Amino acid sequence: MTDPQKVLAERVQQALAAAFGAEHADADPLIRPSQFADFQANVAMSLAKRLRRAPREVAESIRAELSDFPGTVEVSGPGFLNITLDDTWIASEATRMFDDPRAGAGTTTPAQTVVIDYSAPNAAKEMHVGHLRTTIVGDCLARVHEHLGNHVIRQNHLGDWGTPFGMLIEHLLDIGEDAAVAQLEAGQGTAYYQAARAKFDGDESFKQRSRVRVTTLQSGDPETLRLWHVFMDATVRYFNKVYEMLGVTLTDADIAGESMYNPMLEKTCQDLEAAGVATVSEGALCVFPPGFTGSDDKPLPLIIRKSDGGYGYASTDMAAIRYRVHDLKADRILYVVGADQALHFRMVFAAARLAGWLPDTVNAEHVQIGMMLGKDGRRFKTRSGESVKLMDLLQEAIDRASAAIADRGYDETTREAITHSVGMGAVKYADLSVNHDSEYVFDFDRMLGFTGNTGPYMQYATARIRSIFRKAGRSPAETTGPIVLGEPAERALGLHLLGFGETVEQVAAQSEPHRLCAFLFETASLFSSFYEECPVTKEGVDPETSAHRLALCALTLRVLETGLDLLGVPVPERM
Ligand code: ARG
Repeated sequence: MTDPQKVLAERVQQALAAAFGAEHADADPLIRPSQFADFQANVAMSLAKRLRRAPREVAESIRAELSDFPGTVEVSGPGFLNITLDDTWIASEATRMFDDPRAGAGTTTPAQTVVIDYSAPNAAKEMHVGHLRTTIVGDCLARVHEHLGNHVIRQNHLGDWGTPFGMLIEHLLDIGEDAAVAQLEAGQGTAYYQAARAKFDGDESFKQRSRVRVTTLQSGDPETLRLWHVFMDATVRYFNKVYEMLGVTLTDADIAGESMYNPMLEKTCQDLEAAGVATVSEGALCVFPPGFTGSDDKPLPLIIRKSDGGYGYASTDMAAIRYRVHDLKADRILYVVGADQALHFRMVFAAARLAGWLPDTVNAEHVQIGMMLGKDGRRFKTRSGESVKLMDLLQEAIDRASAAIADRGYDETTREAITHSVGMGAVKYADLSVNHDSEYVFDFDRMLGFTGNTGPYMQYATARIRSIFRKAGRSPAETTGPIVLGEPAERALGLHLLGFGETVEQVAAQSEPHRLCAFLFETASLFSSFYEECPVTKEGVDPETSAHRLALCALTLRVLETGLDLLGVPVPERM
């Protein structure tokens, strides 16, 4: 454990127990960053009330128990404990981080099985910009949990089933398999869908055929299933192109689409009905989880079988949650899905708890993704009002990145690699650096900026450290400690770096990637100040100081690169 706040908390708690008895060992020591020291502990004030003693006196007693503390502790004001850590303690903890492959991020013990439902585009419609955020945020959370040693099971809950597939398959037969495959692989799913839809609306016999096809699909007719596979495989190949472009870790093995649950739906309904959790209301099978009412104060139904006998989105999610708990043995299930589905998930979770399918020991959490807005503050769309095609958007990011670094004199291959990293890094970082549940304005100019809390700025920060090593004729990987801290800017950077592991753990606990972005941005800023004030390899710097500073550079690079990798932001060697 290197996080200074955690170390302090533990030490102060030990002091509380020693001074006032073991029953106080669990009191929150209330450690906060301080203006006057590294940290302050405010526990004396709250404890004084309970002990009916003067706060300053309580603070003094705590301080007396901290005599062997690696730093100075002062009592100030009404009873604050101002705590300043010794430089040598910070330096030795920082040196220890060097030898740790996780850069100070602990492992969760015991390891948890974390099921992460993310991306989940719909096959019948094109993958659009709304799926970008769920994909990027979900992928970051998967990486973070894996880094912490958890067992991550990715579930790409593709919209790959349901009534539209009747018309999609009939359209495939009309235009021929090869033409359909070519169109779908090229990412023209929307055009394909619209063509099918137009026939469905305008052509009675096509409509009739489509309806029949839905039934044959659902009854498992082998030829219909083959056609469904032709359609889906081509669609998934296109999704994979997008994932590859983004550097997202999802593979075909992670696909667990709606179709997968089809064979379980009947039993799902039967079991819920037999258990008395679901009841038939107006012909539909519904669960009425307590506490959910509509505007008319009537209980709100979660419909798990429609009155025509068909199954819908909620049916599938009920089967899925049971499968995830029972078969996948999840300890935690994260649903990284748009915020507009909040009510749906609250009801699914409540219904699953009622059914006993989601025990109290398992957490189901909706990681709400806010809407992506255009610069006009409205839902992000093309000028003609259509939803923006994801591939086009990503390509534009790369093109713009290319223009930004055009004049830097790299050969073609290097430039392409940098351009790709910068373009994708910009889009992904922009997405991750804002709170996932707030709406956010998609703005190329801002996200591609080389200053501020942006992907390119963070990438540049790492490239700059790498160039320091090139100049020094050393490689960061060969650099070893010890880290020795002298100047205030060195000390501030070293102290900050120690918080990396705790930040990663927080990101996992709260599902909040933006905290990691904020930490890395602060790291880069502190590094800049350090680099301005403390020459590393300049002439006149003695070799020993230079070695210590290079070690600090190497640790900073490790933290930045590890952090960016957890975000899924690529890191070019040069920029
Ligand atoms: N396909 C859905 C959509 O695009 C998201 C699915 C999310 N996951 C789930 N288990 N419902 O809105």
